[in-house]
Amino acid sequence: CGIVGIVGTTNISDRLFRCIKNLEYRGYDSCGIAILSEEGIEVRKNVGAVDEVNKTEHLTEPQGHVGIAHTRWATHGGVTQTNSHPHLSGDGAFAVIHNGIISNYRQLREELQAKGHLFASQTDTEVIPHLLEASYQQEQDVEQALLKTIARLEGTYAFAFVTTHDPTKVFCARKESPLVLGIGSDSMFLASDINSFIEYTRDIVILNDYEYALITSDSYLIKDVKTGERIPRTVQTITWSPEAAQKGGFPTFMLKEIHEQPNSIHTVLSIEQAQIHQLAAMIHEHQRTYLVGVGTTYYVALVAQYYFASLAKTFLPALSSDEFEYAAEVDGNTLFVCNSQSGETYDTLKALRFAKQRGAASAAIVNVIGSSISREVNLAIMQSSGPEICVLSTKAAVAQMTILLRVALELGKIKGVLSEQQYEEAQLQLKDLPEAIQWVLDQRMSVIRKIATTHCHIKNWLFLGRGIYMAAAMEAALKMKEVTYQHAEGMPGGFMKHGTISLIDKEMNTLVLVPPQREKDLYEATMSNVEEVKARGGFIVGFHYGEPDSRFNEEVIFRDVPSMLAPLLELVAGQLFAYYSAVTLGRNIDKPRSLAKSVTVA
Ligand code: G6P
Repeated sequence: CGIVGIVGTTNISDRLFRCIKNLEYRGYDSCGIAILSEEGIEVRKNVGAVDEVNKTEHLTEPQGHVGIAHTRWATHGGVTQTNSHPHLSGDGAFAVIHNGIISNYRQLREELQAKGHLFASQTDTEVIPHLLEASYQQEQDVEQALLKTIARLEGTYAFAFVTTHDPTKVFCARKESPLVLGIGSDSMFLASDINSFIEYTRDIVILNDYEYALITSDSYLIKDVKTGERIPRTVQTITWSPEAAQKGGFPTFMLKEIHEQPNSIHTVLSIEQAQIHQLAAMIHEHQRTYLVGVGTTYYVALVAQYYFASLAKTFLPALSSDEFEYAAEVDGNTLFVCNSQSGETYDTLKALRFAKQRGAASAAIVNVIGSSISREVNLAIMQSSGPEICVLSTKAAVAQMTILLRVALELGKIKGVLSEQQYEEAQLQLKDLPEAIQWVLDQRMSVIRKIATTHCHIKNWLFLGRGIYMAAAMEAALKMKEVTYQHAEGMPGGFMKHGTISLIDKEMNTLVLVPPQREKDLYEATMSNVEEVKARGGFIVGFHYGEPDSRFNEEVIFRDVPSMLAPLLELVAGQLFAYYSAVTLGRNIDKPRSLAKSVTVA
């Protein structure tokens, strides 16, 4: 979910609308606003994306200087108008928006119901306005009511509220869900992330867990939940430009972000070598290192696992964040390395905290500055890829792979696996990556588009590869699933014959990621899988390097590049393949159904 709060010196309804629209990628099954005026609090909310809801509810109609807004990704309670946020207290004096999960809400609800509170929704959130109302009755002070409410809440939250008892402020509090303040010239903002208000201000203040804040039109105050003491915090100015969060002539953010990859790779190639070295040295010093991520970032870790194996002769297992605590052995000799675009993903944050509690050292590659993960690790490498708005990760993921490739080369050098000369050569080769990816975008987009458009009606796909190409195939298959809603299964080529091969028929297409032919063993092993599929009448799309090959029914041929770069080019082609398949199928590209960009709940 995404939350927003604004206090201005003039009517804020247009800004509230823009700010919540900018957060839509955090969830978009329903949305709503609450505006405070002399008549009280007016709430408008309904099911659907922001524009859709605006058509029926006219979200910018209510006028006022103080307001909150929410866009929802449902966890507790179905997608209905009543379950949409904001939620009101029984007396209508408090309106609350919330991101996170209040885990003890059942108990609180029963307790409040016993005292006569009537609940309208099935959400966990609704206990908050009722607790605020009950506490206010006792305390007759909003801040004290807020503290009393917080003391009762278990679980995770970033919540904000407006109240008729103190009509010039928006109040907010945070525990394990992101919250940032924006310091504008004539208004103050709060939001789940900076993309929300970036068009109004780039001056930000980040809230930590167990802190609460109140904003007025020209001030902000941050306080510690436990001591009630004021916490001074310096303002940071972020460098992302507001234009970076616009589509800039592209029909979708996904296509724009795919095209930004040469640039985002260029940026990560200029991250100081000292930082890369620091991470490589940490890996070298630790007995055991895990590479951790979830969704796309797990596949980033998987790609990196192969880079470390081949370039540094070191096995660093990749683990999915949500499985980490069940599979990993963690102690003081362990290093936890994770990737996260948002730096807020619950599963990854939980794995990180689990590892830290058991004495592990930690490092992360993160895109969003000030995010929880970047602040909780011993070493954070900021990838500076700019805002990634499309729910599907493209540029952020490939930039992370490139950083980890650099770390693998560095470790190879430290361990003496790579000679000085091999290392220098590799550094030179790496410099070509932005241009090689630009070449795919310029020279291969139309053929990929044609193949995707022709075959997008096929509902089942097998994406095969071996070695690092398997990891790239898994990620390409995830892109396909996320955006087309067609089934695509990424799989090691050699694994297919042990079961899945029985699925091959006219209704199951295969896409194979083939390495350059000079990788003789890997190439031949991959092509033997192509033969196996062909022998069973399967239709095959080949991504490969070299001459046209009649064993493929359709093919995308890449220009020769150094072996370590080859899988990344095929992955970019996989992104485009998913993109054009989804365009032809008429899918909601930037906001596929059921997904959210940053999942901050369990
Ligand atoms: C969500 C998104 C995925 C993303 C994953 C990890 O599930 O839908 O696209 O890969 O979270 O996100 P992170 O922000 O940690 O990279």
